[in-house]
Amino acid sequence: MRSNLERAVDAAEFSCRPLAPVRPVPGLREDLLQGFARRPRSLPPKYFYDARGSQLFERICATPEYYPCRSEAALLAAHAAELVDLAQPRIVVELGSGNSRKTCHILSAAERLGGLREYWPLDVCREALEQAGQRLTRRYPWLRIRALVGDYLAGLGHLPATGERRLFLFLGGTIGNFSPQEARAFLTDLRACMGPEDFLLLGADRVKSAVVLEAAYNDAAGVTAAFNLNLLQVINRELQADFDPAGFCHRALYNRRRMQIEMLLVARRRQRVHVGALERAFEFARGEAILTEISRKFTRRTLTAMLEQAGFTVVRHIEGGEHLFSLVLARLS
Ligand code: SAH
Ligand code: AVI
Repeated sequence: MRSNLERAVDAAEFSCRPLAPVRPVPGLREDLLQGFARRPRSLPPKYFYDARGSQLFERICATPEYYPCRSEAALLAAHAAELVDLAQPRIVVELGSGNSRKTCHILSAAERLGGLREYWPLDVCREALEQAGQRLTRRYPWLRIRALVGDYLAGLGHLPATGERRLFLFLGGTIGNFSPQEARAFLTDLRACMGPEDFLLLGADRVKSAVVLEAAYNDAAGVTAAFNLNLLQVINRELQADFDPAGFCHRALYNRRRMQIEMLLVARRRQRVHVGALERAFEFARGEAILTEISRKFTRRTLTAMLEQAGFTVVRHIEGGEHLFSLVLARLS
């Protein structure tokens, strides 16, 4: 039996490399032009996550109102051993890994069970990957961590080649930030890069009372508002724009028909914003909104149907007593 120290010596240190895109995806410039041409105006949520946005998301998770992170962590703490035993991974691949904090439940369960060799966190935010990598190399010195900076919407076909069994994680309820069509495309893409031995562990938020949902996206300390408004600073920096964040306010409402939270930035007054990199100006009427994020909520039935339509079979569905959040372990049909 080799000691953890011997295994640590063998393990390559933490590495962080770009993941090559399989296909080109629009950047902020194209997304802004397209999104601002629609009504309501909209932007994709991936631009929230610069270094500050990722820190603000971490702070959202600590607010008393934002239950999804705690609910999912509790399910992982209680069921990680069983899930890892079912999946028996040699490699854990995590899409949109962020700070990887909840992942520790999976990594620790795998440490007890044995067999895990590598962890591949993939995220658009390099700073989040590097911080998580530093923490995880100290906690799991035997684990090889190959962080990948990239956009999972650009395809997963260039993940490092391996013949070993993988467990893919897509946690946090991030699947809810896709429209139904985007979720189908994402899962189909993921399916295409998975083998018959691989598993997917998907975290998804559940439909519940509008009061609880709206409170989670309107925390009293204003952290979610700061996270939403930070998007304007990202645009200012990346595209030399002159958005005045004080000219907009955060709003998050639950749309019952669509079963989704809709997060908006609403213009407090009539204004004109210049975007230097586009040599364009955009007019905003007072009260006009930019849709910055949807966060879809699922029932057990809609979650199963989404996975089955994308070619997955549910192996285990964990939802806890209060059905606040679901963890679904699935494999290819
Ligand atoms: N899974 C973590 C973080 C959720 S926040 C958790 O459960 O706590 C969503 C994460 O997805 C962020 O870290 C963000 O940077 C990342 N992300 C968003 N869009 C992405 C994209 N298109 N490609 C890769 N990562 C993305
Ligand atoms: C990352 N994602 C699942 C979060 C959510 O709840 O939709 C992002 C978030 N937006 C506002 N608060 C949290």
